[in-house]
Amino acid sequence: MPNTQHLIAPSVLAADFARLSQDIALVNESQADWFHIDIMDGLFVLNISFGFPVLEAIAKEAKKPLDVHLMIVDPDRYLEQFQQAGAAVITVHLEACNHLHRTIQAIKDLGCQAGVAVNPHTPVSALYEIVESADVVCLMSVNPGFGGQKFIESTYRKIQELRAMAAGRNDDLLIEIDGGVGTHNAKALLQAGADVLVAGNAVFAAEDPMATIATLKGIDLTQKHA
Ligand code: DX5
Ligand code: ZN
Repeated sequence: MPNTQHLIAPSVLAADFARLSQDIALVNESQADWFHIDIMDGLFVLNISFGFPVLEAIAKEAKKPLDVHLMIVDPDRYLEQFQQAGAAVITVHLEACNHLHRTIQAIKDLGCQAGVAVNPHTPVSALYEIVESADVVCLMSVNPGFGGQKFIESTYRKIQELRAMAAGRNDDLLIEIDGGVGTHNAKALLQAGADVLVAGNAVFAAEDPMATIATLKGIDLTQKHA
């Protein structure tokens, strides 16, 4: 593990957009580390989420880094605009980039952390040539496009494969898991080698979102090797 303390990134996609301000305040006051922001274009994925005006409104109120997950085709067109809008991490999909190495460099040149996301059908081996240059790899544990889907179990194996692949080449790599994550599987994911847990419905549909974030953040792995 590159860091002993894992990160929690609530996904704003599952927030109540009619009272977004309150949900942002909740995350600000919680133990969460990042805001996870899902941008969908209706092409790379079926769904359309929201664009720059909403992102800028979130950035104005958010007191934690914005982890922007671009589920859009040809994301190079918009990298600078996302950086300007307040992104700290910009994650592009491997499947959406023809020149991924160049895209990663472009994100870093903007002063952002570079993330690469892979769909469930994409093998970890496809990341071999970029594992040294990415700051974050986001393993999708659902097919992207919608919140509230069922977690895909093969993700555990992919985490282990990726951690082994990164060992000695990029020990600081953050492995992020996105989709179907909640209190039921968070500990197992961290034990497998995950560093960042994205949680949408598990947080915002919970009776007590604040307490759910605290539970996810409070998972103690020190007994792992006991
Ligand atoms: C799915 C998005 C996820 C989504 C996760 O395409 O990338 O970030 O918001 O939602 P849950 O945690 O509800 O599966
Ligand atoms: Zn996401």
